[in-house]
Amino acid sequence: MPNRIERATALPVDLFGDEAVFELEIADIWHQDWVFACTVDAVAEPGEHVPVMIGRQPVLMVRGDDFQIRALANVCSHRGTPLVDCAGRLSRFSCPYHAWTYGLEGDLLSVPYALPAEVGHADHGLESFLVETWHGLVFVSLNPDVEPLSTRVAAVEPYIKPLGLDRLHHDVAATMSEQWDANWKLIFGNALDSYSHFRVHAETVEPVSPTDGSYYLAGSARATVTGGESMERADHLVVSLPPSFVAVIYPDALVWQSVRPLTVGRTEVTTGVAGEESDAGTVVSLPGWDASFIDEDRAICEQVQRNVSARWRPGPLLELERALGDFHAYLAWRLSDVAPEPPVVAAEPGSRPEPPL
Ligand code: FES
Ligand SMILES: [Fe+2]
Repeated sequence: MPNRIERATALPVDLFGDEAVFELEIADIWHQDWVFACTVDAVAEPGEHVPVMIGRQPVLMVRGDDFQIRALANVCSHRGTPLVDCAGRLSRFSCPYHAWTYGLEGDLLSVPYALPAEVGHADHGLESFLVETWHGLVFVSLNPDVEPLSTRVAAVEPYIKPLGLDRLHHDVAATMSEQWDANWKLIFGNALDSYSHFRVHAETVEPVSPTDGSYYLAGSARATVTGGESMERADHLVVSLPPSFVAVIYPDALVWQSVRPLTVGRTEVTTGVAGEESDAGTVVSLPGWDASFIDEDRAICEQVQRNVSARWRPGPLLELERALGDFHAYLAWRLSDVAPEPPVVAAEPGSRPEPPL
């Protein structure tokens, strides 16, 4: 589509309510790009599986006996029935319709009542999709030609890698999903926004992560990392990997949020946490964090969504909203073929940018 998206101004409000734009986003973003699926700890053991939706494609994330994590179509090869509707652990998947049965690698194992040689098993296994993991986070792409995830995260990796996130354990039972009445772009842009802390989160986030303590580190259309002062602990980082994933990362804990578009005005929002493993289980240390920040985010996003038919000229973004500008560049890249610019580095890993004179 012709590009109407600018780095330096808010998104045109109709982009949050336009069905045609939404269909374009499903096709050109959600069915093409890397999308966050689950954490490695959600499929820790062979046979553990989680059904997820990647755009409109039902996908079954499953760990095989070989310990590989796979993304299989959650669609029976016979007549298209979803194989699994909830997370769990199984040694094989048996379709609820006619009991065609598949192994953990998607291979078709048995077809009840078929005549000998009636169904060629080798031709009717489950389709599989690309999977890559990044520091305990599992991403899927339906596009076999997508650029490697390592290219996608290259500019932010020097900031993230030293934190040793791989040793953290995700508290799978604490993962929470809700449906919000707002467009996915609004929610993604809000998740990476620290400008609003002093206002939206005056009593929840601001005391532990103040607006005026946040700073841009590095980023581009592909991924962005910002930093923030934290009360009584080391600075935290916020990494955003559009279109689906944002995480706030502390040296010993992380909080992530992922979005999944349902309709133009409705989005599934999933929030999860990870922490250090101890004898008592996973200990997520987020002193001062108050989970009601999620309700505050939901309320403001739903409030903005109610204005999608408003007459309005998009306003300028502040320096504080530079990460949002990167997200806009991402949207212009995916939707209007505007080539991504090289990453900007405002400060090296472990440092803060110089304050403006
Ligand atoms: S649709 Fe799955 S076995 Fe018939
Ligand atoms: Fe927020």
